Amino acid sequence: DEVLHPPKHDWHFNGPLSAFDHKAIRRGHQVYTQVCAACHSMELVAFRTLIDVAFTEDEVKTMTAELDVEDGPDDTGEMFERPGKPSDYFPSPYKNEEEGRMANAGAYPPDLSLIVKARHAGADYIFSLLTGYRDAPEGVTLRDGLYYNPYFPGGAIGMPKQLEDGGVEYEDGTPATETQMAHDVTTFLAWAAEPEMEDRKRQGFKWITALVMMAAVTGFYKRFRFAILK
Ligand code: HEM
Repeated sequence: DEVLHPPKHDWHFNGPLSAFDHKAIRRGHQVYTQVCAACHSMELVAFRTLIDVAFTEDEVKTMTAELDVEDGPDDTGEMFERPGKPSDYFPSPYKNEEEGRMANAGAYPPDLSLIVKARHAGADYIFSLLTGYRDAPEGVTLRDGLYYNPYFPGGAIGMPKQLEDGGVEYEDGTPATETQMAHDVTTFLAWAAEPEMEDRKRQGFKWITALVMMAAVTGFYKRFRFAILK
């Protein structure tokens, strides 16, 4: 059975000057939190990076205050729990890889912080993977705990299908179809892997503009400066 190549998707963030769809990042964060975070960590992402991207500072403070975060050791060498803060990183569902494998029939749910960068075909792959679950073709039997997905290398993945229509209830009223949720969570993951992308594109644009202007001025100057020698 061949592995399918994910079709190209027209992502909001793909153009040289385009930005992320911030409403989609917010919805995607909701999907991640309510669905994916049960098994996947995003250790490299701090809550504060969501501020002014998908949430206000007050919203992020409220969101983190509801979490119990383990901290310490304190003066007496004890660990303790405290309410979360925006500077905390996303919590992990498992203590370590062994615990993660135990909970998932031996497969390890990878950290999703950089997954869009780590996989060839990036966002297109994640979207196709999430929406690509099928019945296994005739004659293919899968070991217990494996699911057929032609986008996953080898076709048998240890992650069951996650997204079904209505799987979350979006706070902005967007109908939560399977495709919509896959699109939103993929946008969220693409942003998480490269939160500085918009800034980088803006800076690049400024530099290119400045260089083009300097080239024009220099060219003009040269023309008149050397005009007498012609
Ligand atoms: C693997 C995304 C929810 C369990 C993966 C991979 C991605 C992913 C991108 C890596 C595939 C690869 O290696 O190329 C997501 C997203 C989720 C989600 C976006 C939410 C919408 C879950 C949940 C569970 C889970 C809730 C546990 C019930 C796993 C496992 C693997 C995995 C065990 C490893 C599979 C293997 O290596 O065979 N997931 N996941 N995932 N996920 Fe999820």
